[in-house]
Amino acid sequence: MKKVKFALAGCGDMAAKHAEAIAALPDCELAAVYDIDQAPLQQLAGKYGARAYTDYLLLLEDPDLDVINICTPSGLHASMGVAAAGAGKNVLMEKPMALSLGDADMLIEACEKAGVTLGVVHQNRFKPAILRLSKAMEEGRFGRVMHANATVRWNRNKDYYGKKTWRRLKSMGGGVLLNQAIHNIDLLQWMMGRVVSVFGYTASNLGLSEGEDVGIAVLRFADGALGIVEASSAIYPRSLEETISIFGEKGTVIIGGASVGEVKIWQFNSPERDGVLGQDVNGSSGESPLVCCIGDMAQAVRAQGRPKVDGREGRKALEIILAIQQSSDTGKEVALPLGVTEN
Ligand SMILES: NC(=O)c1ccc[n+]([C@@H]2O[C@H](COP(=O)([O-])OP(=O)(O)OC[C@H]3O[C@@H](n4cnc5c(N)ncnc54)[C@H](O)[C@@H]3O)[C@@H](O)[C@H]2O)c1
Repeated sequence: MKKVKFALAGCGDMAAKHAEAIAALPDCELAAVYDIDQAPLQQLAGKYGARAYTDYLLLLEDPDLDVINICTPSGLHASMGVAAAGAGKNVLMEKPMALSLGDADMLIEACEKAGVTLGVVHQNRFKPAILRLSKAMEEGRFGRVMHANATVRWNRNKDYYGKKTWRRLKSMGGGVLLNQAIHNIDLLQWMMGRVVSVFGYTASNLGLSEGEDVGIAVLRFADGALGIVEASSAIYPRSLEETISIFGEKGTVIIGGASVGEVKIWQFNSPERDGVLGQDVNGSSGESPLVCCIGDMAQAVRAQGRPKVDGREGRKALEIILAIQQSSDTGKEVALPLGVTEN
């Protein structure tokens, strides 16, 4: 089978994880890397024997590339994705896919027009515990779900912002909602369905970033269930948890740990179906979620199909976050869907 050839655009911290994940997939190859900074570029090119580019247009002209993984600062995502689609390349986009709905739509349309596949990296959807929760939701095991929480209590300190200054900038996607909590908000909406209204407050307390370091919101879902988002990057002195909790009339599930991978509570009125919750469900064995996510993209590209999180799916968490920020700015409840000109 011909390998799916990947290129990394941006060779920083997350790109290094993409490179490792691609190397772990036997039917995939890291063929090229691109960065404007020579040090991380040469480091990844040397380690994986990939062709090195310092010019994005030249990278996009390389005929031996199937997918461009966009791992640059978030404010660059949409325009780089549109350029890649225009060059006929499939796009695997790091989160957030864009900073506005207008840009997200521009990217989705560019990929559809070019007939290329667009995937968004929300690797937590591939965690075994989360997949098990999703199956329990699909099977209706909770009965009526009454409320659900997404909780991100992390520490992002001076060191974090000092190392990579783009993380401080709103124009580059700084702020705990877009930069950290987006994964958990994605899980919340994936489990609970369409959000119809949001009331939120955001605050920037520590002054380390232009973006918010705390975001708190109440959500109403289309079926009448309620949700709470609690997102902080200002937890002293270190990160505590990333947790999703689902409360239904016949079941309660809480999946937490440092990064939403450990089953804390798994309680249903039909417990005999669950067996023993062991290693498999806690995700401590098997492939990493990022390997699964990139493998899923490779499979979608081969089949000219859709990855699990395509552009329209990736857009949903972005819309919820923009609504929370808009609610905080206006002091009003915000109804979804948002108009594209509202952000
Ligand atoms: N999926 C996840 O869990 C996850 C985790 C961390 C970061 N991310 C996302 O990955 C992206 C990168 O984050 P990071 O922490 O790796 O950042 P980083 O600062 O470590 O890396 C960014 C790289 O992009 C390069 N770059 C900047 N401008 C460029 C340009 N115009 N052209 C080419 N290269 C350019 C920089 O030189 C740097 O090497 C962000 O969008 C972030 O939100 C995702």
